[in-house]
Amino acid sequence: MDLGIRGKTALVTASSGGMGRNIAHALASEGANVVLFARSQDKLTTVASEIIQQHGVRALAKAGDMRVSSDVTTLVESIKAEFGGLDIVVLNTARPPNPIRATTEEVDMARWDEAYQNQLAGVLQVMSQAMPLITARGWGRVIAITSASVKAPMAHHSLSTVFRAGVTAYMKHLANEVGLSGVTVNCVAPALIETPHRAGSAAYTAAQAEARKRLTPLGRMGTQGELAGVVTFLASEQAGFITGATIPVEGGMLGSLF
Ligand SMILES: NC(=O)c1ccc[n+]([C@@H]2O[C@H](COP(=O)([O-])OP(=O)(O)OC[C@H]3O[C@@H](n4cnc5c(N)ncnc54)[C@H](OP(=O)(O)O)[C@@H]3O)[C@@H](O)[C@H]2O)c1
Repeated sequence: MDLGIRGKTALVTASSGGMGRNIAHALASEGANVVLFARSQDKLTTVASEIIQQHGVRALAKAGDMRVSSDVTTLVESIKAEFGGLDIVVLNTARPPNPIRATTEEVDMARWDEAYQNQLAGVLQVMSQAMPLITARGWGRVIAITSASVKAPMAHHSLSTVFRAGVTAYMKHLANEVGLSGVTVNCVAPALIETPHRAGSAAYTAAQAEARKRLTPLGRMGTQGELAGVVTFLASEQAGFITGATIPVEGGMLGSLF
């Protein structure tokens, strides 16, 4: 199936590694040109080279911090100069602070502030400056990576749930306001996606990681490809009548009817 995004320009934030990098590859494999944004220029340059070599599209690597207004301004100016506009934005972010804790133990305001900055403030910063580029084209896709915890709060995840619920609310407001410009705005809410790139530094012990597989009817973790595939579908022409939605990618862990 042709997803209709060949030649479109896609910005993927937090894309120097992990999920962001995999999503950028998936969009590029469908013919989208990609703009990569994260703080590490060397890693971004490597990802951009891989993408150009493997998918034959254009890839721009721009270093900067999602939370810093001037960095985002520079990013948006570069996109205008290189591509003349923007069609797709995937709002991936840093993880919440580690280690994860019970809500009653989250008494350090610095951790709440870090979680707010990393997960919500960066998204607001990027969208505040990038939205005019997307609405100008009469067709657009905005997709935020949140967490399944926004549907059913998961133990020890309040630093994620609280601010990703904020992202979800912000995306719903945007969806309502920009629909007439041909722009859809959605969230993808993952849980239990394997993160092989972080082996050894994960928040879970080996025993906890094994137990997590049994949280889903499928009895396994999800793959990076399964997550990136859903994001890429939401970026497609065919997903044009989906907006204001949150699509869970969590192997059925939530167990709710909706
Ligand atoms: N795996 C799951 O099942 C699951 C479930 C729910 C939610 N999530 C969320 O999915 C997201 C991606 O997960 P991941 O495992 O791929 O994370 P990761 O490996 O820690 O990668 C995070 C990326 O964010 C970039 N980054 C960090 N701070 C940034 C900033 N201020 N500005 C710009 N870029 C920044 C990092 O690059 P630089 O260091 O170069 O900036 C890196 O590319 C996270 O928010 C995670 O919490 C994952």
